[in-house]
Amino acid sequence: MNTKTFFIETLGCQMNKADSEKISGILYSLGYKEETTPEKASLLIMNTCSIRAASENKAYSHLGLWKKLKKKNPNIKIAMCGCIAEQTKEKVFVRAPHVDIVFGTKDIENLPNLLNESLTSYKPARKKGLSAWLPIIEGCDYFCTYCVVPYTRGRQKSRLPADILKEAREIASEGFGEITLLGQTVDSYGNDFNDPNINLANLLKELNKIDEIYRIRFVTSHPADITDELIYTIRDLEKVCEYFHIPMQSGNNEVLKRMRRPYTREEYLRLVEKIRTAMPDVGITSDFIAGFPGETDEQFEDTLSLIDEVVFDHCNTAAYSPRKQTPAAVWKDQVPMEIKKARLNILNKKVRDSVKKSHERYVGRTLEVYDGLARNNKIVHFEGDKDLIKRPVMVEIKEASIWCLMGEIFCNKKATCESGS
Ligand code: SAH
Ligand code: SF4
Ligand code: F3S
Repeated sequence: MNTKTFFIETLGCQMNKADSEKISGILYSLGYKEETTPEKASLLIMNTCSIRAASENKAYSHLGLWKKLKKKNPNIKIAMCGCIAEQTKEKVFVRAPHVDIVFGTKDIENLPNLLNESLTSYKPARKKGLSAWLPIIEGCDYFCTYCVVPYTRGRQKSRLPADILKEAREIASEGFGEITLLGQTVDSYGNDFNDPNINLANLLKELNKIDEIYRIRFVTSHPADITDELIYTIRDLEKVCEYFHIPMQSGNNEVLKRMRRPYTREEYLRLVEKIRTAMPDVGITSDFIAGFPGETDEQFEDTLSLIDEVVFDHCNTAAYSPRKQTPAAVWKDQVPMEIKKARLNILNKKVRDSVKKSHERYVGRTLEVYDGLARNNKIVHFEGDKDLIKRPVMVEIKEASIWCLMGEIFCNKKATCESGS
């Protein structure tokens, strides 16, 4: 019987998902087999997220379940990695003594050592599908006053363009048609090099030349890093999708200042305007926090009015959660939980209205759909042969719901229909 089996649970953002693909790749190279349930595996790995208290609690409650498995079978090894592991290291053993191995986001390649094995090379085991993740920049230098990421991912560090292009070509040769470039502030790519030619716009131009790739995406954008050059490059490159995730966090300038977000409401609105003028069908999504320390009812109202003004295609929302090591966590003017929750409810309703409005304007239009997504990242359902999702096809939108658009294949474009079937 093969005793080298593993199960990995991944919490958190795409960066963690990309890390889990690396971890799985390492384990495959060491001769491990992946299991789809924890009950069957001899090595259990929890890849954790520490962005909010709820994410941290989720990780520990999963670990609690695994404790029972270990009681039944003491040979099981439990590993914890990811952002909580990077931030708290050995303290994990205090809260969860049944954990055997802890390794942080910067120690992934040390995993073979921790398992008393050695390894010379490995490739990420990418999830099967049409779209692949490609991290291009690690960490973050912004130190927003609420956020743990600079403590869990370290300082900003861009990868060399040659390494990225090599990996992109490998991805293409493995049969993926779409690449999503990843970074916490993806458009600060290259700022940490002396060479001004190393930037996201130039990287996109090179990636656009890879034949087998149909589409290129990039997340997450920081409002202060989106240059005019980048906007016009995205507009002009046919494979780069017109979609930006640009977290705003608050619509009030005073709150933004205390969050240490280096832009104003007015600057954000101008940026959105500029992007939409260049690319009218662009998708723009955002993140907002309700109940940041000191936020008054009036300041919260500014977030609501900003959402009305912009009409976003989607927004992630959360109640402010105090995080260890971050400045805002110890400020005296914390907003009470009931008020945070009440504001979050109002915010979520506002976001739903906004998304509905944004979806309705696509009814009657024709969008290019690949892997179930329009270029602007909207989910599009249509009937047709399963293989149709493997090539970009044109779909005429007939109906819109809050979750997705529904349409029919548009057949006037003969070439598209023939290549798609
Ligand atoms: N790098 C991205 C965001 C990364 S974290 C950016 O700069 O915008 C993802 C989202 O989690 C953030 O946009 C923010 O809205 C939310 N978030 C981060 N820290 C939080 C906290 N302490 N409480 C509540 N939400 C938080
Ligand atoms: Fe966190 Fe994003 Fe701010 Fe960096 S820019 S500290 S990742 S919210
Ligand atoms: Fe969470 Fe770490 Fe991502 S804290 S959001 S998994 S970078």
